[in-house]
Amino acid sequence: MEDTATIRLGSENFEFPLLKGTEGEMALDTRTLRAKSGFIAFDEGYGNTGSCLSDITFIDGEKGILRHRGYPIEQLAEHSGFLETAMLVIYGDLPPEECFDAFRFSVRENASIHTGMHHHFDGFPSYAHPMAILSAMLNSLGAYYPEMSSNDREQDLAHFNETAALLISKVRTIAAMTYRMKMGLPFVYPDHNRRYAENFLHMMFSKPYNDYVDEHGAAKALDLFLMLHADHEQNCSTSTVRMVASGGANLFASVSAGVCALWGPSHGGANMAVIQMLEDIHKSGDDGTRFIQAAKEGKAKLMGFGHRVYKNYDPRAKILGKSAEGILKSMDIKDPMLDIAKRLEQAALEDPYFIERKLYPNVDFYSGIILKAIGIPVEMFTVMFAIGRMPGWIANWKEIADNPKSRIHRPRQIYTGATLRDYVAMGERE
Ligand code: ACO
Repeated sequence: MEDTATIRLGSENFEFPLLKGTEGEMALDTRTLRAKSGFIAFDEGYGNTGSCLSDITFIDGEKGILRHRGYPIEQLAEHSGFLETAMLVIYGDLPPEECFDAFRFSVRENASIHTGMHHHFDGFPSYAHPMAILSAMLNSLGAYYPEMSSNDREQDLAHFNETAALLISKVRTIAAMTYRMKMGLPFVYPDHNRRYAENFLHMMFSKPYNDYVDEHGAAKALDLFLMLHADHEQNCSTSTVRMVASGGANLFASVSAGVCALWGPSHGGANMAVIQMLEDIHKSGDDGTRFIQAAKEGKAKLMGFGHRVYKNYDPRAKILGKSAEGILKSMDIKDPMLDIAKRLEQAALEDPYFIERKLYPNVDFYSGIILKAIGIPVEMFTVMFAIGRMPGWIANWKEIADNPKSRIHRPRQIYTGATLRDYVAMGERE
């Protein structure tokens, strides 16, 4: 195949290089399009735009493939855990034992929050959304570590390893403290003897003189949930992190922006919306048939279905769908939401509307049922997604920061507003 392509615009031909990824993905390199021809590429929503070269995650949405650094998500789900996958995503390979131990140690040592930050929680009303608190807290956290959040690239990178472990650790502590504050409960300090997911559950649910005990494997289920969310290439929040990083911003500021981008119901907020939808269906006595009909008529959206990239099963949804039953069983929970979800999935997969549009369950379809079984309140679901996504945001920030040729991200637009007009004064105005 040729390594250039010719485009004819008007009466002129222009030649552009072709790019090929390691998995055979092809792209037309249009970086010189405007300089050569005066045209720009228009791609609202970026559905057809490659914004970067990246070594982290590969997705083939048509085949339902997801791999981190070459490892299939199915293998990682079976053999790995959240912290090991976090290292894989951030550093490029499965860590040797001593590196993994050092990382785990750093995560453990960084679990507490500066007591000065405890007071920030007092400023929020109890009805504040936990994503608003999380984003504000992550940005504020940087203020406590000026040497890691200097916006001087060289200096921020010199502290990268510590900052990465610190953020992975503290995002979990901040999340648990947010929940305790909203519930009017005293903060619970991290317990250094507990593993990552179990320590989170301890900080969420321990009571005075009644420490949280994981009797039914909730920590294992949570670890799987977090692991499956570790990265997902150039989605809305990760692209936001890269966008903010491209201006030279530090890692704290960049991931704080990522949290805001994740919040919306079309992105990370969908896991909350799925449970709300399932509960509404349950309350209305519908077996899912009426809801599917409403979705087809454009009167409702089947939350947890559809994806910009996957035109096949999201492999994470397959893993979570399979695990959900076992997790609920081990916890001795019977949740009618799981039955409704299964019925909806079955009905949608057989319906021409969903088949023609290639709409399949995405990661959010079953994740809420698992979080609910663990005892996480619905309002905290998107926060849980943010904890899981932290390694991906960090790895993507690093790709930008490490690249000396990285340019500030600055898309163009097609202006459709008023053309030039003369200002006519309408009398004296303040
Ligand atoms: N229910 C019913 N119809 C749907 C759904 C859905 N969940 N998703 C897409 N469609 C329909 C659209 O109405 C459109 O129909 P049309 O061709 O008749 O106009 C068609 O399918 C194509 O949909 P788009 O909106 O073009 O898909 P897009 O790629 O822009 O959006 C998105 C993807 C946002 C995920 C969408 O499918 C959606 O809103 N899903 C529900 C929310 C959700 O689960 N979000 C989580 C995504 S995964 C994540 O971020 C972790």
